[in-house]
Amino acid sequence: MPKIAVAGKGGVGKTTFSGVLARVLAAAGEKVYAIDADPNPTLGQVLGFPEELMAQVVPIVQMADLIEERTGARPGESGAYFRLNPRVDDIPERFSVAYQGVHLLEMGTVKGAGAGCVCPENTILRALVTHLLLRERETVIMDMVAGVEHLGRGTAAAVDAMYVVVEPGQRSLGVAADIVRLADELGIPALWMVANKVRGEQDLDFIRGHLGGRKLAGWLPRDDHVVEADMQGRALYDAAPELARRVEAIARETGLIHEPSVPVP
Ligand SMILES: Nc1ncnc2c1ncn2[C@@H]1O[C@H](COP(=O)(O)OP(=O)(O)OP(=O)(O)O)[C@@H](O)[C@H]1O
Ligand SMILES: [Mg+2]
Repeated sequence: MPKIAVAGKGGVGKTTFSGVLARVLAAAGEKVYAIDADPNPTLGQVLGFPEELMAQVVPIVQMADLIEERTGARPGESGAYFRLNPRVDDIPERFSVAYQGVHLLEMGTVKGAGAGCVCPENTILRALVTHLLLRERETVIMDMVAGVEHLGRGTAAAVDAMYVVVEPGQRSLGVAADIVRLADELGIPALWMVANKVRGEQDLDFIRGHLGGRKLAGWLPRDDHVVEADMQGRALYDAAPELARRVEAIARETGLIHEPSVPVP
């Protein structure tokens, strides 16, 4: 039932974590909608979606046409048009493509929008995430754009929880501190820190010393399988079992999985 965002500095491993988490939850019996909110989408690759399926993905921004078709109104600056039109529940089904139990949605980009601005996309995505009613055992995981700038006016306010991914290094921890501050201001109910690309105890100590007292929900090692999977176009969940086990442990630690452990292949 929760709507979860994954945020962090560029390149820390948001997509890596989102992709593995999606499969972990699917394996635990959840219906998972994985939303790639990055205008340069890569989540499908981490999920190992075959090219034929990726070709079928309809970007969420094309919902604008669907909404016009149903209501006669173009989406405005707010999510108000969704209140006029209660039929948003079919959108994830209609716009997603499923593979190995994960339903992938891509935000896409609005052609002709100002260079570097994802404002119209964010408006549409925010409306969808805000008004989407999830059933029992359905989860939305949103792989966010890097950084903090988009969070305030974007979709972040509509989520139930946010993972903030960090890597050993001052820069990602600085960005994480900004994200945490903003998430607190927005009133996001749960905020979970995840360390990635950890090489050993020293890295963990460094990260723990820069979290301002916040606890880590868990950590993932620097793992060559991630690079291998990327080169082979394989789903990371299948190619990196150790990573998958650790993501599962994080999902348990943060209360997303309650069932007894099932072995990760
Ligand atoms: N645990 C890991 N071990 C080794 N390499 C990793 C690990 N996690 C991520 N990487 C590599 O780091 C790079 C960035 O990872 P990823 O794309 O998941 O980050 P991101 O935060 O989504 O980046 P962006 O901000 O560009 O969206 C990729 O090349 C990925 O293969
Ligand atoms: Mg990414």
